Amino acid sequence: MKFEDIKKIGVIGAGTMGKGIAQVFALYDYPVVLVDTESSILQGAMDKLKKFTEPELWDKVAGNITTSTDKGLFGECDLVVDAVFEEITVKKNVLSSINSICADSTIIATNTSSISINELALSITNPSRFIGMHFMNPPVRMQLVEIIRGENTSEDIVAVITQLTKAMDKIPAIVNDSPGFVSNRLLFALIGEALKLLENGIAAKEDIDTVMKFGMNHPMGPIKLADFIGLDVCLSIMKVLYDDLKDDRYKPPAILKDLVAAGKFGKKCGQGFYDYKKRNAEK
Ligand code: NAI
Repeated sequence: MKFEDIKKIGVIGAGTMGKGIAQVFALYDYPVVLVDTESSILQGAMDKLKKFTEPELWDKVAGNITTSTDKGLFGECDLVVDAVFEEITVKKNVLSSINSICADSTIIATNTSSISINELALSITNPSRFIGMHFMNPPVRMQLVEIIRGENTSEDIVAVITQLTKAMDKIPAIVNDSPGFVSNRLLFALIGEALKLLENGIAAKEDIDTVMKFGMNHPMGPIKLADFIGLDVCLSIMKVLYDDLKDDRYKPPAILKDLVAAGKFGKKCGQGFYDYKKRNAEK
């Protein structure tokens, strides 16, 4: 498979990331098949995309994205990107079904934040065409795509995905498979420590975020960033990092587990560490 052979792209999972990944491909003129389990989820995803796409670009985005609950449509795709829940069994099931639907030459990529590429590759026959393509949130605005090479990923596929990333005006960083890769290994050391400071009463969440925002020039503080990522996603990532690295800095803090257990998943549901339903919520 060469870069020029990528004519049509599939994305599975139309949540926070999947819809944004579909939007990026569509903006760069790729026809995209976006699949989720229910039509109402797909409709909700398209409604949100419309809200967050410049009006003059909406016809292009809407015209290039076909939504469906039928994974069979991936049979026509040259690249399929997984963006379903960060749960290993869910991802493995989804990847095996993509594997059985798609041609042996189709590149299969995953947007996983933390799960081992080598482990997920076990669900794919011919794992040389399996790769991590880790977009950041929101995909349309964030420039980085972390490209993760599994032990069986072919260098040709790394080159194709690198070229595709650059063709969409994004910046690739190529890393070898390792828990949390580079991005989340570094980010969750910071978020985990910020949550420990909060839990231990060292400072209020606003002050912790203010230190990093105005002292270190981060665009937002780590606790607000956790809310933006989704606290359920953060918890899954920390569990994977802790289980794999056995390093206490990634041990999910009780304060995070409690919010997730209470269904407070962060910005996407209006409540996390911060309240997003209130007008004039902390910026
Ligand atoms: P999300 O929970 O917003 O969306 C997941 C979507 O997958 C849902 O719409 C769900 O209905 C769908 N889904 C689940 N099982 C499915 C199946 N069997 N078939 C079809 N669709 C299915 O999750 P989010 O945040 O978009 O995360 C997706 C992936 O992206 C995860 O691997 C996550 O680690 C990764 N990621 C998340 C980032 C974030 O900031 N939220 C950043 C970078 C990567």
